[in-house]
Amino acid sequence: MRKIDLPELDRAAFTEKYGPWAVIAGASDGTGACYAQQLAAMGINLVLVSRRQAALDALGEQLASEHGIEFRTLVADLTEPGAGGRLVEATANLDVGLYISNAGADGAGNSFFASPVDRSLRLLTMNAANVLEASHGFGNRFLARGKGGIVVMSSGAGLGGQPWLVMYSATKAFELNFVESLWAELDGQNVDVIGVAAPIMDTPTLRKATEGLGMDYSMAYDPADVCALALASLGKEPLVLVPDGPDEAKIPQIQAERKTRLLALAEWGKAYTAAADA
Ligand SMILES: NC(=O)c1ccc[n+]([C@@H]2O[C@H](COP(=O)([O-])OP(=O)(O)OC[C@H]3O[C@@H](n4cnc5c(N)ncnc54)[C@H](OP(=O)(O)O)[C@@H]3O)[C@@H](O)[C@H]2O)c1
Repeated sequence: MRKIDLPELDRAAFTEKYGPWAVIAGASDGTGACYAQQLAAMGINLVLVSRRQAALDALGEQLASEHGIEFRTLVADLTEPGAGGRLVEATANLDVGLYISNAGADGAGNSFFASPVDRSLRLLTMNAANVLEASHGFGNRFLARGKGGIVVMSSGAGLGGQPWLVMYSATKAFELNFVESLWAELDGQNVDVIGVAAPIMDTPTLRKATEGLGMDYSMAYDPADVCALALASLGKEPLVLVPDGPDEAKIPQIQAERKTRLLALAEWGKAYTAAADA
């Protein structure tokens, strides 16, 4: 597997700002379980969300016994309308400081026109409507408590169109633009958001989606590294872009250009808002 040189993470400062509870949507395996492991190791209590109760129970019990954390489980299908808002409501009694929007994959490839439109709509609901609902709900809670953070797992597929992953690419682009805009709007309010343009990672979902295709998994990244990079970059950058795919060589340039553009639009937005308020 490909590895990443990871920056230092100040665990005490992280826990103080983003603890004592985190909610992970899509926690039972893959990157979601990596986030759960890394947050539990910092002593952060977890609300683990996915469709499989038994997998959530097993992970929660393992992390509770290894790290002495508390955990709750929530069974939800994030492709259903309203699921994002229900996560916010179901955790209203917990002091949540971190929301991780993780689940969002879509198999190895499919034709937009040959697929039922409902398939595309369900992905749109999971990767757009429910990301929006949960970010709105948790973000407002974090603003009210004066601190917190949101991590949105997107994909390098969101950097441009991708045939045979039409809705995946489109919804992952939504996530990247959504997070960038929020990052600028949240400036100076002690609430952080980061989007991850994730590379190919060796997760159970990837293995299942590529079964029998002869994929070389040595070119995939270690999901634990990508999660660690995202957590270490929260509060510093709007986006984490990991070199991969056709954009591999240009990723640092793409990251710098997107940030320059975003900062310019943030200045323009402030001036426009000030003029409108006057
Ligand atoms: N793996 C890659 O190569 C890759 C590359 C780029 C970006 N990403 C992004 O990274 C994130 C994680 O990817 P992943 O490979 O770990 O696979 P994933 O299928 O997006 O995530 C797996 C986790 O999400 C849960 N989940 C899946 N569908 C769900 C649904 N409808 N409702 C609730 N929970 C659901 C699964 O648990 P249950 O089965 O128990 O529901 C599991 O815990 C995704 O946003 C993906 O787009 C992945």
